[in-house]
Amino acid sequence: MQVYGLLGNPVSHSLSPPMHEAAYETLDIDARYVTFEPDPEALEAAIGGADALGLAGLNVTVPFKEAACESSLVAVDDVAARIGAVNTINFAGRPTGHNTDASGALRALDEHDFAVSGARAVVVGAGGAGRAIAFGLADGGADVAVANRTASRAHDLADDVPGAGGYGLEAVPTLLEGADLLVNATSVGMEEDASPVAAEALHGDLAVMDAVYRPLETRLLREAAASGATTIDGAWMLLYQGVEALELWTGREAPVEAMNAALRGRLR
Ligand code: ATR
Repeated sequence: MQVYGLLGNPVSHSLSPPMHEAAYETLDIDARYVTFEPDPEALEAAIGGADALGLAGLNVTVPFKEAACESSLVAVDDVAARIGAVNTINFAGRPTGHNTDASGALRALDEHDFAVSGARAVVVGAGGAGRAIAFGLADGGADVAVANRTASRAHDLADDVPGAGGYGLEAVPTLLEGADLLVNATSVGMEEDASPVAAEALHGDLAVMDAVYRPLETRLLREAAASGATTIDGAWMLLYQGVEALELWTGREAPVEAMNAALRGRLR
């Protein structure tokens, strides 16, 4: 039996185990997906131990993504190195680190027939999620603007992303006037029924994707739908980062529908 897992803290409410185990069942792979919560200072030992024990793969989440990218035990691919964060480690051969948050966001958009290449995209949020999404969009050929409450973080992120601009949140209504895509990569909408963007700034030519998935129906997405925008909820990014990880680990085409059903069944 193969063992996959998730390293993070906390991980007790993670939806990755049911999502991945639904895929193993569909593909008839004899595997389990388990969660681990190492102490922050024990990350290197955890990765080395996982490798020594023969784990097949690990996902990595908060607060370990940046440290996993720095780990001497992991050969990091180009995308993850540029983002500075690893969310997937493949233990086949030398452990390799990847970032499927970036590719997963692109695949979520592709699934909704959104053409990223040439699109004008506004990413709100310059934390870990915003960083991966901004890099993914720029790699996909979008023209990226990053806006953040703390404008200096947006400037710092924009400096790293080819062609991107960095702004404070006050710039968002103007940025959205000519935009094709808005992505919420802040935590706003999770704890309370709030939106990081004024409803008046939304319009029918936008696709609006939210990284928040608890709840699935955020205020931003409700207001976006009311404005006529196309909406893409947070479960899509969560799904496709997992789909991309599974495909890296197994080399097989992921059973997207089964994984999506396992995820959405637990989010409703
Ligand atoms: P993650 O890894 O999920 O991106 P993070 O690095 O803590 O988490 O980033 C959280 C993001 O949500 C940041 O962009 C943060 O803005 P700041 O950089 O100014 O802190 C944003 N955020 C959190 N609460 C917010 C709020 N009430 N209004 C606007 N932005 C908020």
